[in-house]
Parts: sequence; structure tokens; C-alpha cells
Amino acid sequence: MPTVYVTRRIPENGPDLLREHFTVRQWDSDDVIPRDVLLREVQDADGLLSLLTEPINDEVLDAAPNLKVVANLAVGFDNFDVPALTKRGVVGTNTPEVLTDTTADLAWTLLMAAARRIVPGYKYVIDGHWKTWGPLLLMGQDIHHATLGLIGVGRIGAGMARRAQGFSMRVLYYDVFRREDLEEELGIEFADQETVLRESDFVSLHTPYMPATHHLISHDQLKMMKNTAVLVNSARGPVVDPDALYEALRDGEIDSAGLDVTDPEPLPADHRLLTLDNCLVVPHIASASYETRAAMSQLAAENIVAVLSGKKPPTPVNPEVVEAQGLQ
Ligand code: GLV
Repeated sequence: MPTVYVTRRIPENGPDLLREHFTVRQWDSDDVIPRDVLLREVQDADGLLSLLTEPINDEVLDAAPNLKVVANLAVGFDNFDVPALTKRGVVGTNTPEVLTDTTADLAWTLLMAAARRIVPGYKYVIDGHWKTWGPLLLMGQDIHHATLGLIGVGRIGAGMARRAQGFSMRVLYYDVFRREDLEEELGIEFADQETVLRESDFVSLHTPYMPATHHLISHDQLKMMKNTAVLVNSARGPVVDPDALYEALRDGEIDSAGLDVTDPEPLPADHRLLTLDNCLVVPHIASASYETRAAMSQLAAENIVAVLSGKKPPTPVNPEVVEAQGLQ
């Protein structure tokens, strides 16, 4: 019976499915698996169900000579060294589609919460400052009829554009791929990145993380943005330069930020971004609904079951390996 290793506690439906077919071992904890434990546990593994907290690179692959598939419990797979997987004929998979709307919901939540000062408002109340209705109290930015700028308009970016329709917003987008289908369907307008940054009241990031998107938003880009603008990042932390963001928020170059992802991650509680009232941070929870995390667990397990049964996995990230191995 093939062996599958699961690197964290995850919703049980995925491991239950794996146990129907394989010997399953698991890092039975909510903490990150220590690297030495991972390297030991993969020695006899045919399949690995990994999280975005585990770099899957030569070190892991060299330790796992039997490995045929690594299924990431995430849509992003910047923790994979894809060429290293492909070189060894190991299939990598991710969990697209199942988390699109849940992630867009959270990005939208951050947008609204930052714009309307929800966290400072809550702190104001619990700190006992609420003495009277205040005409100047905690004023924020209008969302309805404002302009939303999307940097990256894949599945989740398109989900933001759909939500923006309900708020009568104008939507600008920049992407390396022009999306005329979405322009037609949702009335979104393509513009270069600088125009998106200059004209938008809200800028929401939906790019994958790769060398080309490292610190995509830094000093120059933040300076281009309106000083009333709100920045939302639910993509990957290092897409934004944290030092530049700190200065822009501190100096009022932009209004506020809502971050689901940070650089570094986790963000230490004494990080200077957390001293700012206009920076709202949550701990990388965009896909964290009960339904969606179960769907991710299921899809990751289905990918492993497929590859280890000689079948084509639903969502490979290196389809050339699937093809080369004739998985159908
Ligand atoms: C989470 O960040 C994911 O990529 O699914």
C-alpha cells in the first residue's frame, strides 16, 4: 500500500479519503512541522500533502526517492520549486476554484473594514472613549461609486470585480493578460499599472508571487496612489514592500491598508506596521471558511488519489509531468 504524509492537522475529510486507499501518516499538530521531521517522514512517502508553510525544494525531493505527487493545500504554490518537481517527474497540484469566492469575500471584508475604520471604531468603544455622537468621528472613505483598481484579474480578481458591481463601482485592472471576456462580462477597464494606481480609490492585489511580483508595490507605486486610497493585499506578503508601506501609511501617502498576508509572515506582534491605526492585519485567513477549507482538503486528497492510481489529477501545476507519464 502506498504511503502518504500529511504535514499538518487539516479538515478530516481529506485524510479520511486518503486512508481509504493508502497508509497515511500525519504531523498531528497545528504548528509548522519541523524541517528535520519532514525530511525524515518523507523518506518512504509516495505522496505528500503539504501546506504553503513548507518549501518543497531539492532538499525535500532528495529525501523522498519514492515521491510521485505533492498536493499543496493552497491555490498559490510559490512554496514549490516547480522545475525541481518536474525534473524528477513528481506531479505538483494546488487547490484553485474551490476557494475563489471565499478569498474574494475576505479581501472585500478588508476593503470595507479599512475604508470604514471598523477596527479603530471597535477599539474606540472598548477603550471607553465613546461619549457622544461625533460629526467628525472616525470618518472614512466611500466605497459605493468609487474606483476599484485590480492588479491581477485571475479568478479572485474577477471575484472582486463581481462584488464591485453591487457597489456601483468603476473597476480598472492591470494584468499581464488582457481579459476582454471580463471587460465584456463585467464592464471592467484595462489600463497600465501606473494608471490603475493613480486613478483608483481602492487597489486590491491578486497576482501570484514570483520574482516579477516581488515588491511590486514599493515607494514609487505608493506615491502614485491617491492619498485617500486604500490598499488591500490578499495575494502574498512580499508583493508589497513592508518598509515602503509603513512609511506611506505613517506619512499619509495613502489612507489605509488591509492585509491578509504580510512580509514577514507571521508578522511579529511588535512589528511597526502594527503600531499604525490605519493598518488592519489578519493572519492569512482568506480561504478560512468551514466549507472552503473542507473543499481544499478534499481536492488535495483527490489529487493524490488520482496520481497514485495512475490517473490524471484534477488540478496539476506541472501538467507536462502528467502528460509525460500518460496519466489519463
Ligand atoms: C492561500 O494563500 C492560498 O494560496 O490558497
